[in-house]
Amino acid sequence: MKQTRMKTFPAIPFLFASIWGACIPGTAQNHVDPTGPVFRMDGGNVTYAFGVNERGELQQLYWGGRVAASDKIEPAHSDPEWASFDSSYNNTPQEYAGWGSGLYMEPALKVTFADGVRDLVLHYVSSSKPADNALDVVLKDISRAVTVTLHYRMDPESGILARSATIENSEPKPIMIEQAAAAAYSLPAAHYTLEYLSGRWAGEWTLNSETIHQGQRVLESRRGTTGHQLNPWFAIGKDDADEEHGDTWFGELAWSGSWRITVEQDTLDKVRVTGGFNPFDFGYQLKTGEKLETPAFYTGYSDHGYGGASRLMNQFTVTHILPEAPNPRPRPVIYNSWEATEFHVNEAGQEALAVKAAAMGADRFVMDDGWFGQRKDDHAGLGDWYVNKEKFPNGLKPLIDKVHSLGMDFGLWVEPEMVNPDSDLYRAHPDWVLNFPGRPRLEERNQLVLNLARQDVRDYVFGFLDKLLSENQISFLKWDYNRNWSEPGWDQMPPDQQKEVYVKFIQNLYWVLAELRKKHPGVEIESCSGGGGRVDLGILHYTDEVWPSDNTDPFDRLSQQDGFTRAYPAQVMMAWVTDSPHWANNRSTSLTYRMLVSMQGSLGIGGNLNKWSDEELATAKRLIASYHQVQKTITQGSLYRLISPTNGSEFSATETVSPDKSQAVFFAFVHSTQEGRSFPRLQLLGLDPAAEYALTSIEGKTLPGTPEHASGAWWMNHGVDIDLHGDFQGAAFRLDRR
Ligand code: DGJ
Repeated sequence: MKQTRMKTFPAIPFLFASIWGACIPGTAQNHVDPTGPVFRMDGGNVTYAFGVNERGELQQLYWGGRVAASDKIEPAHSDPEWASFDSSYNNTPQEYAGWGSGLYMEPALKVTFADGVRDLVLHYVSSSKPADNALDVVLKDISRAVTVTLHYRMDPESGILARSATIENSEPKPIMIEQAAAAAYSLPAAHYTLEYLSGRWAGEWTLNSETIHQGQRVLESRRGTTGHQLNPWFAIGKDDADEEHGDTWFGELAWSGSWRITVEQDTLDKVRVTGGFNPFDFGYQLKTGEKLETPAFYTGYSDHGYGGASRLMNQFTVTHILPEAPNPRPRPVIYNSWEATEFHVNEAGQEALAVKAAAMGADRFVMDDGWFGQRKDDHAGLGDWYVNKEKFPNGLKPLIDKVHSLGMDFGLWVEPEMVNPDSDLYRAHPDWVLNFPGRPRLEERNQLVLNLARQDVRDYVFGFLDKLLSENQISFLKWDYNRNWSEPGWDQMPPDQQKEVYVKFIQNLYWVLAELRKKHPGVEIESCSGGGGRVDLGILHYTDEVWPSDNTDPFDRLSQQDGFTRAYPAQVMMAWVTDSPHWANNRSTSLTYRMLVSMQGSLGIGGNLNKWSDEELATAKRLIASYHQVQKTITQGSLYRLISPTNGSEFSATETVSPDKSQAVFFAFVHSTQEGRSFPRLQLLGLDPAAEYALTSIEGKTLPGTPEHASGAWWMNHGVDIDLHGDFQGAAFRLDRR
């Protein structure tokens, strides 16, 4: 049974209470003088421990591979000062440090009191009785009535830890929160490498890898939304950790607004990772008796390198984060009209595409942008969510009926948080947009951002979506969001509360999504933001899938998928096959190559089917049928990135193994073979060595000498030779346990 522990803040999916009961959690070992209690959480192959030091601060003691239950965690002792320049308060790896005393590292919490005091020193007060691998620890300022409750939840299966904080003001006057993290995590002095994902529109999911040096590496978005540019994910490898070996720590923030993760090495070479609301332009006034909940910061540890890290995180996302967790159904194979028709949708044109999509085996037909208001291009219509009568004289019903009669369900594109100035909505409510009155309003893609933090805007957005879903048989919404914030003013609020827009906008977004799902339980939602601009664990608690990039060039997608799957599962990674040559790089590729690339994720078709030959339609049909047979393994199994396509690699390969190891699917791709070089022998991973597996070709040839069936040990130790030469070639195979 799923439980939402903090009902006031739906963004934090603490779903675990009942499932986590299997493990002995957070046992408080009470140590008397001179230090306080020690807390320990064990799950999967992870132990996380922290305690109260002699000053009363909460201090991390250990985070890494699981230690024996009999191993005693020594009580917390603050680290000494370093000469007179780095205080003990600074050097001690605190779990949640207030900015005060001598703190030069990143604070978890920074406040200004009503009298101008800006010193906050948090000491341990109490802890909840540990239960279900969950623990709450209360800290309080040394003299003022500000408390912070730290929430800890550890998944007994994976050892993934969810941490968040609730800040409460019991002072007689309001306080201003200038910075609030969900959590801080520490690692002892060592040589570490940081991996993170960066990008831009049509170029998301680039993997970066760099040595951690003293100072701070800031990963952030100041854009009001998650952003294409950096994703709220990190991985840290120790020494020479690689894809399959070594100590690796990783984490993801569950927040779809401006966020920040800092990775900081202190003067004594220890590392601290702090994540939460982005403090840039942040200000949240907490009145007497009020609370602020931070997002959750999920972290984990693997001793199987970066690949092990992503397998743990991705499995956790499927089984704990997604709205249909723990058993989300594999995504329907969709057809989407965007690249075929762009804004020029109409009943006859969409129906013609639907007929072809159904014939090739699509499960869902999605009509993209252009169906509403006065939408002819991107200059008008956003905000006017009524059906355009010129394009659909009889409303959406005839198209939806046709789609259903073809055996598919129907999905529709919306962009609820946006408005074009050329719209009835904007003409009626020019004050509904984010803005500073009297100042220009930047239009990007000719649109402005509605201020969803306002209750009337929130109710409008919920209202039109509810009506749309109530009046039409819609199974799926593609929820788009095509610009970032600018001029983020909220002039209906007093000046010292206007910055709360950063928090309240996202809380209302989550509220709308949650309410819609409640009222329309069958409806599935995709998070899209001009491609992958809003992909994070916060939105994934309310949406079933995401659109990783507007760039569907298959060769680019190989490296994007490599980056994406480090942080998110193939289950949510929509992957359309579109037309060739591709608009992004003017690159021509075969339909088979495009299909195989997309079949590594949740397959969709987004090309102009009117231009596909009969042979291409037949190829797509055949491969969609093959995909359906192995889809669950590909999208919900354990992914091994056997050869990464990044860094100009000539070859790439992935393999996914089903949770019960009864099936494995592997893909191999070549960019351009050179000097007749053969594809490297692929030694598979993750199989049951003792089981016998039969090999079936989905597409492509193996070399003579490859048996029709052999043990898992054979496939893993001997490996497979694949005949793959030429430019942009691909092959795919399955292994089934006999
Ligand atoms: C951006 C999305 O990423 C595209 O797939 C498409 O839906 C367009 N918006 C429509 O305007």
